[in-house]
Amino acid sequence: MTDGFATVRTALRRALASSHHEARAMPAAFYTDPDLAALEVEHLFKKEWHCVGRVEEITEPGQVMPYRLANEPLAIVHGRDGTIRALSNVCRHRGTLIVRDKGRSQRLVCPYHHWSYELDGRLAAAPRIQERDDFRFADCRLPEFPCEVWMGFVYVNLDSAARPLAPRLADLEALVAPYHMEEMWLGWLGEEVWETNWKAMVENYMEGYHLTPLHRNTLNNLNPTSLARHIPAGEHWFGYEVGFPEDLPRVTAGHPDLTKQQSDTCIMAMVQPGSGIGLAADYSSFLCLQPEGTDRVRYKGGILFWGDAWTQGAVDRAVELFHKTMAEDRSVLEPMMQGYRSAHHESGPLAPPSLEGPILDLARYVGRRLLPAMDETA
Ligand code: FES
Ligand SMILES: [Fe+2]
Repeated sequence: MTDGFATVRTALRRALASSHHEARAMPAAFYTDPDLAALEVEHLFKKEWHCVGRVEEITEPGQVMPYRLANEPLAIVHGRDGTIRALSNVCRHRGTLIVRDKGRSQRLVCPYHHWSYELDGRLAAAPRIQERDDFRFADCRLPEFPCEVWMGFVYVNLDSAARPLAPRLADLEALVAPYHMEEMWLGWLGEEVWETNWKAMVENYMEGYHLTPLHRNTLNNLNPTSLARHIPAGEHWFGYEVGFPEDLPRVTAGHPDLTKQQSDTCIMAMVQPGSGIGLAADYSSFLCLQPEGTDRVRYKGGILFWGDAWTQGAVDRAVELFHKTMAEDRSVLEPMMQGYRSAHHESGPLAPPSLEGPILDLARYVGRRLLPAMDETA
């Protein structure tokens, strides 16, 4: 056990025991320790539900998109029966990846020797393989993982024994249902790799303290720090909300189910561990985070729009604002890793819960999920 690992263990215990008013930032090893990162992959990324994208990406039967979840290559497939499935994307012949890009086809055909699979994962054909008399097609089915669509998002769990997602998110669903994310349309989608720890990115997405100082000329105009409020964490998600200034022009007030107060509020929610939603009445964003080691994180992000009042110019401006805001976040999150490697790094006290409450929520979640395994490792 490294010193860092032991320090994190102590800090996680403290996080579980401390109140929001006495919370402190986590020690540097929380973001840099490789043993902790390995446990996160094992217990969080291979055991929890993760958003892999939106249903709009695969609306038609036969449409498929690749996704890598905890280094597991997946093919997310819209089946002929209308079911969306998460299949292993690893060919059962000699193991290359079958689906490389989004597309639409009758079958999934491996580019190497053209073994082809039905959209539900059954092997349909394999050239000349019948010349072997011991070959059984049924032995070469692509493994399938639990997959659910929630609010228009496709979620996958690599754990075949996973409990269903929707009941776990019932309390979050009650909060976000009036915004009708499942009716929003996908206006932009992208992927990037940042040189930072995935938890630093979660914390950044989930705290309102930096909105005004870091995003002074961007997000601050929409969602200033002064309007941020903590939402008490659920068991499987945590979040905060932040208001829009009353006089801010908006393209639409959103779905008629929304009250004025809801329409004037943006909800930031993190489905643990790494599926983030920034939900507002007029448009929303989402992030699907996947760590690639301690100091690299890959994200798939998108922007969803509500209704038909959006002109192309207004969509373009929203996308541009997203890019500028993300670039500002990146400008602090990448250098943060240098800070965490400094011999003089010391974690400071957190701002009041309305501003940085979700940072303690993240630490508590990691503590609940990982402390038993950390204790075993120690
Ligand atoms: S590896 Fe896929 S067909 Fe051979
Ligand atoms: Fe930010």
